[in-house]
Amino acid sequence: MRTHYCGEVNESLIDQTVEIAGWSHRRRDHGGVIFIDLRDRAGLLQVVVDPDTREAFTRAERVRNEFVLRVRGLVRHRPEGTVNENLASGQIEVLCRELEILNTAETPPFMLDDEDISEEVRLKYRYVDLRRPVMQQRMLLRSKIVRHLRNFLDGCNFLDMETPILTRATPEGARDYLVPSRTHPGNVFALPQSPQLFKQLLMMSGFDRYYQIARCFRDEDLRADRQPEFTQLDIETSFLGEEEIMSLMEEMIRQLFRDVQGVELPDPFPRMSYAEALEKYGVDCPDLRIPLQLVELADILKDVEFRVFSGPAQDPKGRVVALRVPGGNQLTRRQIDEYTVYAGRYGAKGLAYIRVNDVAAGRDGLQSPILKFLPEQAISQLMERTDADNGDLIFFGAGSAHIVNESMAAVRVRAGRDMGLVEEGWRPLWIVDFPMFERDDKEGRLTALHHPFTAPATESPEELKNHAAGMLSRAYDMVLNGNEIGGGSVRIHKADIQRAVFELVGIEEDEARDKFGFLLDALKYGCPPHGGIAFGLDRLVMLMSGADSIRDVMPFPKTQTANCPLTQAPSGIGDHQLRELGLRRRKNQGKTAPESAANK
Ligand code: AMO
Ligand code: AMP
Repeated sequence: MRTHYCGEVNESLIDQTVEIAGWSHRRRDHGGVIFIDLRDRAGLLQVVVDPDTREAFTRAERVRNEFVLRVRGLVRHRPEGTVNENLASGQIEVLCRELEILNTAETPPFMLDDEDISEEVRLKYRYVDLRRPVMQQRMLLRSKIVRHLRNFLDGCNFLDMETPILTRATPEGARDYLVPSRTHPGNVFALPQSPQLFKQLLMMSGFDRYYQIARCFRDEDLRADRQPEFTQLDIETSFLGEEEIMSLMEEMIRQLFRDVQGVELPDPFPRMSYAEALEKYGVDCPDLRIPLQLVELADILKDVEFRVFSGPAQDPKGRVVALRVPGGNQLTRRQIDEYTVYAGRYGAKGLAYIRVNDVAAGRDGLQSPILKFLPEQAISQLMERTDADNGDLIFFGAGSAHIVNESMAAVRVRAGRDMGLVEEGWRPLWIVDFPMFERDDKEGRLTALHHPFTAPATESPEELKNHAAGMLSRAYDMVLNGNEIGGGSVRIHKADIQRAVFELVGIEEDEARDKFGFLLDALKYGCPPHGGIAFGLDRLVMLMSGADSIRDVMPFPKTQTANCPLTQAPSGIGDHQLRELGLRRRKNQGKTAPESAANK
């Protein structure tokens, strides 16, 4: 039906006849001459329909937005003064000889050029939304990124292998999506939270290097960077340690950025321990483009009378930090109040601050509701430690370490953005030296920080059991501009260590056999040392395309409440199907079953 894409017609085709097909993006009637901007995935092209071509002109008069057209015409320069610099095809136009209306279209639910269409409407009419040039570009970029990643991995001898979607639960920390079985009434399949166990089994089967563009399913609280159904670039290798895996994966990302983004990332990527990340940034995925850091104050404030500070400073589980915001003194009282509300969303009970007017003037040069609670010495110590300067604002976070970290990390990012301190560019980072376990505050028991198949830093089950609390793991996360884009580890490849980890996280022997018996068996029959990583493909594409949400780089995402306005999924289910699946409807719906230990 066509010889060229609209967006590919350019000056090199002047005086040639081309055939194009696409959607009528806009139609303008200019006193006798009709202009149609024809659109396809490659871009826009101006078609001019002259009354001299009678038949085409009569048809063009009927054309409305989003009609599907086929045009044959002559490529020519645009008349002087009508060149459009914003368009790749802006130098030329096509003089229509023949026009065929392949299909009409009703007035679309929104104009494609509209900037503020609600997301609900965009998702309901996603097929229209996806026609918008910005969405087309994102999807093309996504495909290009996937192609590059595949090429790299194919070139390194990785095998593309599939793993089941109907399977048993793989614990990655979220709730499972379950699928009831008809042939085994009362039993369910779980959709994979990741292909973790299968890719390990493939290593045990001797495939040595595996990858998969893998769909994963997690029923968790959604955010801009989380979807219930998302895609991982999932990778596993045998006989490589963390150094080799990390350097290979860095190289893959470096090449991707070089080829697709024209950007040279550092070689090697910098590394930071988990402990340092939490200490300086309050999170394990810091955005290094923001040059602000948290400053520890517990030792300075542990004896002050002000309980808000001294309480957490004396509590081993507490934390007191300062965040110096250069130039922050220009924030109004009202803006500071907004920051306090913002910190409150993360559980902070308040957000104390000091305005620094004149450092040289000591206490008199400062302004703050909390100064009266602090002795002279503490004030001068904290001015010195935060390296405060005139015009700064210093925020304080005090409370349980968990809340201080989360709230002050959020305040740090927001202040960095508000004050225009975010540096340009790409700041990749490896986070390493993760603890093997964290302690569940409510139940007091240990849980695996990554999944429970991550190798600990020791090969001895005794040492692991005796030093579980402080034990590090052999895990690594790749972080880019404040987003965790990938995570992986060297795995446990010995049954005794695997059993010890299950035991430590409270998976009893029976439960371990029931749920992971196949893994424990497989570990006995010749398992090579292995390890791998999974990248959040949607997050990577989001960052590379400059989108604000992963929903904008997925063709058919779910809403924030995990439904699909387009197909109205999830949907009700008929009595017949219920019966077939051995299920019964419950009047009092909305309750969730308790989570099993392995799923936490
Ligand atoms: P992890 O759980 O860290 O590791 O997931 C790997 C990467 O997947 C992305 N990701 C998500 N993206 C969108 N929506 C979600 N809900 C979501 N959850 C995670 C993140 C994350 O870094 N099996 C291990 C990997 C391994 O050990 O090899 C795993 O799944 O970018
Ligand atoms: P208050 O004594 O509650 O009036 O608090 C005095 C100041 O300390 C106010 O500016 C509060 O915002 C701040 N504040 C209270 N609790 C905390 C906290 N947990 N962390 C940081 N600042 C706090």
